[in-house]
Amino acid sequence: MKIVAIVGSLRKDSYNKQLAATIQERNMERFDLEILDLSVLPHYNQDEENNPSEAVVDFKRKVKEADGVIIVTPEYNWSIPGVLKNALDWLSRVDKVLIGKPVMTAGAATGLAGTLRAQLHLRQILTALQVKLLSPVGNEILVNQAGTKFADGKLTDEATINFIDDVVDRFVKFISE
Ligand SMILES: Cc1cc2nc3c(=O)[nH]c(=O)nc-3n(C[C@H](O)[C@H](O)[C@H](O)COP(=O)(O)O)c2cc1C
Repeated sequence: MKIVAIVGSLRKDSYNKQLAATIQERNMERFDLEILDLSVLPHYNQDEENNPSEAVVDFKRKVKEADGVIIVTPEYNWSIPGVLKNALDWLSRVDKVLIGKPVMTAGAATGLAGTLRAQLHLRQILTALQVKLLSPVGNEILVNQAGTKFADGKLTDEATINFIDDVVDRFVKFISE
């Protein structure tokens, strides 16, 4: 099984990148998780959507070929970061590679609400993109107070890791349905 991760932070030591890397490392036997690089994408421009840059073509191809997508988002000002919205806008146009694609969402933030508001906005956007979303009930990966839950580039909080393993199990089943 091939899954791609779209991470909404470009920061070198991003907790959200570390969260994606943790999911990747813990599931190597079950699926290949490729973490896509959003920093290479230009700003979405409708004038270019029918003849986009190689970086956009590659990005869209990888998403199209994937069996599922995991979106890992920080929260910026109660919503998702611009780089993630930009990536979703590219994916939403011309060949519309996200239609019907199984998607799971997750997020880490330093504050108490752990990306709750960002993920609610993300779900609203994903509805417009016609993805197949894993139900939020019992499946919300909200890693709050991230500064206390990561060490040496990995998520270390045992309870959070166990919960994420369960959600990923359900996502793998959801993809196979
Ligand atoms: C521009 C900006 C806006 C932010 N807004 C929020 C916010 O609305 N809610 C929140 O919980 N954290 C907010 N934060 C703090 C982020 O949760 C924190 O910086 C987190 O580490 C970002 O994710 P990253 O580690 O993957 O880069 C904000 C940070 C930045 C840089």
